[in-house]
Amino acid sequence: MLNAHLDLDPASLVGPVNRRVFGSFVEHLGRCVYDGIYEPGHPAANADGFRTDVVDLVRELGVSTVRYPGGNFVSGYRWEDGTGPRESRPSRLDLAWHSIESNEIGLDEFSRWLTLVDGELMYAVNLGTRGVQEALDVLEYANIRSGTELSNQRIANGSPQPHGIRIWCLGNEMDGPWQLGHSTAAEYAQRAAQTARAMRQVDATLELVVCGSSGAGMPTFGEWERIVLEKTYDEVDFISCHAYYEPVEGDFASFLASAVDMDRFIESVVATADHVKALRRSEKTVNVSFDEWNVWYQSRYNEVEKITDADTWPQAPRLLEDSYSVMDAVVFGGLLISLLRHADRVTAASLAQLVNVIAPIMTEPGGPAWRQTTFYPFSITSRLARGAALRVRLDSPSTPTDAYGDVQMVDAVATHDEASGATSVFLVNRSLTETVTVDIAVDRLGIESLDSVESIFDDDIHAANTLTHPDRVVPKTNTTARLHDGTVTISLPPVSWTALAMH
Ligand code: AHR
Repeated sequence: MLNAHLDLDPASLVGPVNRRVFGSFVEHLGRCVYDGIYEPGHPAANADGFRTDVVDLVRELGVSTVRYPGGNFVSGYRWEDGTGPRESRPSRLDLAWHSIESNEIGLDEFSRWLTLVDGELMYAVNLGTRGVQEALDVLEYANIRSGTELSNQRIANGSPQPHGIRIWCLGNEMDGPWQLGHSTAAEYAQRAAQTARAMRQVDATLELVVCGSSGAGMPTFGEWERIVLEKTYDEVDFISCHAYYEPVEGDFASFLASAVDMDRFIESVVATADHVKALRRSEKTVNVSFDEWNVWYQSRYNEVEKITDADTWPQAPRLLEDSYSVMDAVVFGGLLISLLRHADRVTAASLAQLVNVIAPIMTEPGGPAWRQTTFYPFSITSRLARGAALRVRLDSPSTPTDAYGDVQMVDAVATHDEASGATSVFLVNRSLTETVTVDIAVDRLGIESLDSVESIFDDDIHAANTLTHPDRVVPKTNTTARLHDGTVTISLPPVSWTALAMH
């Protein structure tokens, strides 16, 4: 039997947990929008054509901000195509995903959908094929109350109130050769700085996110961040990080330790941002918006799903519809632990994506909607992570990985809400074979009651939820947990994720 020890101290704070860390992402991609959130004619659709069963699941998921409308899609998008009377909206080629975009849904409709899920819009402007003027135009359309050409158009289009978008992404993944308008760091930085300065002339209080690298494995990673921040530091509030994980050639041990990579990624970007801060003698701190993260079986997309046929331009094709296993959910829960561990600097994040496309929620046209395994670590963490993240002291046995060397078998983070006394601990056991018993010292938090112990684990780590078996994997109560004399003891089965709530 292996043992680990975790020490919690309310005086040892990382920082407040920003609700924006529980953001998500809706891109015009595959069936995320069409046949996902929007399906007029579905028995559960409301008068606007939005599926209310999906709305209910998004609310249960506990999503805060929603990034929109892309993603790679945004780098070729003309925002005005999605405004005005539907019958006169153009259909366009979406070059990013080799599809037809009907433009039935645009900014006004999506904003209406967000009110149903109590979400905040995080809007990305096109800095791929467009620039300063179009960013200014969409800002005027969205945020100016009335009395100008574009704000009056919005009102005429049925949105009398401004959308009041606070947080804006300056393009998407401009370091990626696949991106329309892909540029060097210096070229992008100049475009982003000009756009940011112009947007701030409209509203100096906007929160702006500049593109960091689309992955820590990019050849330009590090230099990209330095060059981009050196030119934009005074204009922006966040730099983005994007990361997707999948097992490489069946190496599950490394896959289970993916959070090690996320930790290093965040810490490198924070170090680069702080280096530029020092160079500029700036008072301001630029934080991280981790606005795309997930498990994504990208190899499957590249090898099987990618559509390149010049004669075939499908509408809302089934793309990136990964089915998530128990093991994927454990990795996913570990990534959330990494985000919370950096709560002082990761103050916004977006799970990519929300419905059907690498998503926690799946739908069938005319049929049901269901929760993937990854739904649960997200919904439970979003519900329980309140107050501030605590810097935990953890002694854990180690486990070998090819990608990261020896890593801690158990990983953990805790949150504590001073006002209510609520404390939550999130743990993963990354071993493929070993059960680990963890002692958690909670005496300094005055814990009197263990309220819930929700876990994801299964004899079959490849088990998943499907259309025919939507509840094959649901959270289980870990019955081994005990609170005694200021210590919680719990046994974590191999490949498991657990959330403890206490007060
Ligand atoms: O989320 C899927 C895609 O991944 C996004 O469109 C892009 O930004 C990233 O490469």
